[in-house]
Amino acid sequence: MATLVTGIGELTTNDPELGKLTNAALVFSGDRVVWAGAAADAPAADERVDVEGRAVLPGWVDSHTHLVFAGDRTAEFEARMAGKPYTAGGIAVTVGATRAASDEELAANLRRHVDEAAYQGTTCLETKTGYGLNVEDEARSARIAAEVADEVTFLGAHLVPPGADAESYVDLVCGDMLDAVAGQVRWADVFCETGAFDEAQTARVLKAAQERGLGLRVHGNQLGEGPGVRLAVEFGAASVDHCTYLTDNDVEALAASETVATLLPACDLSTRQPLAPARRLLDAGATVALASNANPGSSYTTSMAFCVATAVLQMRMTIDEAVWSATAGGAEALRREDVGVLSVGARADFQVLEAPSVTHLAYRPGVPLTKNVWRLGQRIR
Ligand code: NIG
Repeated sequence: MATLVTGIGELTTNDPELGKLTNAALVFSGDRVVWAGAAADAPAADERVDVEGRAVLPGWVDSHTHLVFAGDRTAEFEARMAGKPYTAGGIAVTVGATRAASDEELAANLRRHVDEAAYQGTTCLETKTGYGLNVEDEARSARIAAEVADEVTFLGAHLVPPGADAESYVDLVCGDMLDAVAGQVRWADVFCETGAFDEAQTARVLKAAQERGLGLRVHGNQLGEGPGVRLAVEFGAASVDHCTYLTDNDVEALAASETVATLLPACDLSTRQPLAPARRLLDAGATVALASNANPGSSYTTSMAFCVATAVLQMRMTIDEAVWSATAGGAEALRREDVGVLSVGARADFQVLEAPSVTHLAYRPGVPLTKNVWRLGQRIR
């Protein structure tokens, strides 16, 4: 059965041929888009939804979250707002709470956050392990994530667990832990940062994951300059995430590569870091994605609209760049062509705004403008 969405005041397709249309229509059948174009040319369909002049755009593609967790870090946040710096040491607090939680508790918490994101327009979401940090808890995190999320990343190399020897822990990540998560995850990631994993350790994990056929991602350059971006590019990672502190060489390397720079503005704000240099990256020709980094420590929000508004208001991205980065950019960071775009054949994942144009996402920051959401052709809001 085909459904015609008509009365679209502004349709952001992210399709290179169609671009952004006014007075547009969209047709989907089952879970796929089958037509998009000018309302006057729309084909007949079995049913019709009139959005009465509102803006329609792809659902958000949130390519970076850490939502398999238990516990709460409000006290750490309060201390940070009182001036204590973010060091990522709080990851160990979440590891303790996550290990102590039952499978049911972890799954319910993940589902609650994924639903919260979907309500706000996120129709494709990646999430990571990384709060287990032993073979058993990383494996169950991967299993629980695979039941709920569109994309799952193994992040055993998130932090050396308290009391462990770093080199022995890297051996475990590269061996038994990777074996235990195989089949549940498409990606592997490493937190390459002072206090987490150094250049040699990061390279070991990336190599081991690559040898098992996993795609690669890197947490890099979050708290200072370092080798994360360079390694991500050298290994052909799909994405390097954070990119808050970049040298000119990092920017050039990203611009000359297929590696997406995934920026996490809500994290930069919540950890009182400078905002990532989006303009430098875009002007150099790098591909930029925006993601929420939803997690209980450094960025406890699932709001992609907040990230888009911040990117426009504070990072000097244009509204069209920010919307692209939070949809098609996220899809590129996940190496997917079926989401983040409203082209024929893509997933029928889209949102209707209570606004005539996407500009209102930044013009009216903080206002919950997502009115309706369709995912895989099903109305979920
Ligand atoms: O992306 N940087 C490492 N990992 C997360 C933080 C997780 C936490 O603090 O719990 C991040 O910000």
